[in-house]
Amino acid sequence: MDYKKYIAGKIAAEGIAEDEIYSAIALPPNSEMGDYALPCFKFAKVMRKSPVIIAQSIAENYPADDIIERAEAVNGYVNFTVNKSALARETIDEVLERGGKYGSSDEGAGKTVCIDYSSVNIAKPFHIGHLSTTAIGSALYKIFNFLGYKAVGINHLGDYGTQFGKLICAYKHWGDREEVERGGIHAINDLYVRFNSEATEEMEHEAREYFRLIESGDKEANDLFNWFKDLTLDYVRGIYKRLNVRFDSYAGERFYTDKMQPVIDELREKGLLKESEGAQIVDLEPYGMPPCLILRSDGASLYATRDLAAAIYRKNTYDFYKCLYVVAYQQNLHFKQFFKVLELMGKEWAKDLVHVAYGMVSLEDGAMSTRKGKVVWLEDVIARCVEKAYGIISEKNPELENKADVAEKVGVGAVIFGALYNSKIKDIVFSYDKVLSFEGETSVYVQYTCARANSVIEKGGVPGEYKISRLLPQEAEVVKAISAFPQAVQDAAEKYEPSIVARYAVDLAQKFNKFYFDCKILTAEGDKRDFRLALTSAALTALKNALTLLGIGVPEKM
Ligand code: ARG
Repeated sequence: MDYKKYIAGKIAAEGIAEDEIYSAIALPPNSEMGDYALPCFKFAKVMRKSPVIIAQSIAENYPADDIIERAEAVNGYVNFTVNKSALARETIDEVLERGGKYGSSDEGAGKTVCIDYSSVNIAKPFHIGHLSTTAIGSALYKIFNFLGYKAVGINHLGDYGTQFGKLICAYKHWGDREEVERGGIHAINDLYVRFNSEATEEMEHEAREYFRLIESGDKEANDLFNWFKDLTLDYVRGIYKRLNVRFDSYAGERFYTDKMQPVIDELREKGLLKESEGAQIVDLEPYGMPPCLILRSDGASLYATRDLAAAIYRKNTYDFYKCLYVVAYQQNLHFKQFFKVLELMGKEWAKDLVHVAYGMVSLEDGAMSTRKGKVVWLEDVIARCVEKAYGIISEKNPELENKADVAEKVGVGAVIFGALYNSKIKDIVFSYDKVLSFEGETSVYVQYTCARANSVIEKGGVPGEYKISRLLPQEAEVVKAISAFPQAVQDAAEKYEPSIVARYAVDLAQKFNKFYFDCKILTAEGDKRDFRLALTSAALTALKNALTLLGIGVPEKM
C-alpha cells in the first residue's frame, strides 16, 4: 500500500493540494522518529503561518486509525507512525502470495524500452571495461521487464571499421585457420595486436584494400569477416550465459550500412549538412559543441552517422517510449551531439533518448590498459572470482554439496555486484577481496543471508496461518524493509540506477540478520514462532527477487 498517499489523503492543510503534500512526505533519518515525515517549511508562505504552527495543527487534526497510529509535530515536521502489526499483515501476506512476482507491476504495460548495452567490438577483447555496461544494462533490462515494460536488449556490435581490413591482412600474412579456430577471440586479438606493432607500409595499404573489399561485398573478405564475427560472438555468448545476460537483437554498426544514406539525404534536405575541409558536418557551435562529423572527406561514414541511423531505425521498429544507451561517460559528448542532431532534424522523440553513463572500472593493481595486449579479460576476472569463491566456501563449509555450482553463483554474483553496488557514475576499483567478503556490503553477504533464511524455513516450514501480536523493533525493521522493495525497484528504473536495488538487498539482509541474532525463530513459542517463520520466508523472497533482478543466482545452501 502507498502509505504516503494514504497519509496525504487525510491531511487537511488549507490551500495545499494533496499531491503537493504527497510529494513532500519523506522518510525520517531514523525510525524512532516515525516512519514518514512531512516537513512543513515550504507551506509557510501559502498558509501564512509558521512551519511549527502548521505542523502542530496538522498533527492535531490528523485522524489516527489502524493504519497510521500516531501523528506528532516536532519542530516544523509532522512525524507519522505506521501501525506495524497492520503493515506486517499486509506486507507478509502480499509477499507470500506473489512470491517471485513480489515487487513487480504493470505500470509499464504497453511501453517499450530499448536498452543498448554491452555492445562489444568484434575481434577485440571483451575486457573488464565492458563489465559495467553489461551488468548495469542487463539489470535495467530485467527491472524494466519486471515493471511491465517490454524491454528490448540491443547489442550494438562494433563490427564496422578499417580495423577489420587490418585483421584480414594480418590473417593472410601470419594466420593459420586451425590455430584461429582453436584460439578463437584470443588468436584473433593476437593477430590484430601483431598487425599494430609489425605492419609495414605496404601491409597498411593492403589493409585499406581489404576493408574496401568488405564494403564492396567481396565474398572472400566477407567470409573472413563473418568468421571473425562468429568466433567473437560464440565467445561473448558464453560469458553472457554465465552472467545471466540476454539480448533481443545483435544489430550492430554494420547493420546500418544501407540505412545511412537516407539519413544523410534528410540532413541535406533539411539544410543541416555543411561542408568543412571536404568533410560533411552538422554545425553544433550554437549549442556549445564541436561539429558532429557525418562523412569524412573520403566519403566514409562515422560512428555518429551509424548511431543516427540506428536511433531512427529503433524508433521505426520498436516505437520506443525510451531508448537507453548504457555507455561509459567518456562518450558523453558523442551522445549529446547526435541527440542534438536528431532534435535539429525535428525528431520530437529525441527527448526520449537517454545516455545512461557510468564510470570506469579498474583493478587494484591498476591493470586496465587495452593498449599493446596488456588487457584484463573479463573472463579471467570471472574465473578468478569463482575460483576464490570455491576456496572460501570449501573452507567455511567443507560438507557442502554442489560446491562448484555454489562457487559459480557466488563468484559470478560478486563480479556483477561489484559493478552494481556503487552509484553508476562513480569510478570503481575492483578488489577481489572486497567483492568476496562475507562481512561487507556484498552479494556474498546477501546470498549467505538467503541461505541462512532458507535453512530456517527448511527446518520450520512456512505456516499456513499466523497471528500477529505487538512487534519487536527488530521485527518491525524487517517488515518495513520488505515493504520498501517495490519502491526500490521503481526508483531504480526511474533513475536508471540498479545500485538502488543492490543497496536495498544489503539493507534488508542487515536488518534480517539483526532480527535473526536477536530473536529466536525456531525455538520461539506458538504464535511468535509462526509469525517469525512467515516473516523469514517473506524476507527471503524479497532478497531473492532483488538478487534475481541484478542477474545474481541464489544458492539454497552455502
Ligand atoms: N562499441 C562501442 C564501444 O565499445 C559502444 C557502443 C555503444 N552504443 C552505441 N549505440 N553507440 O565503445
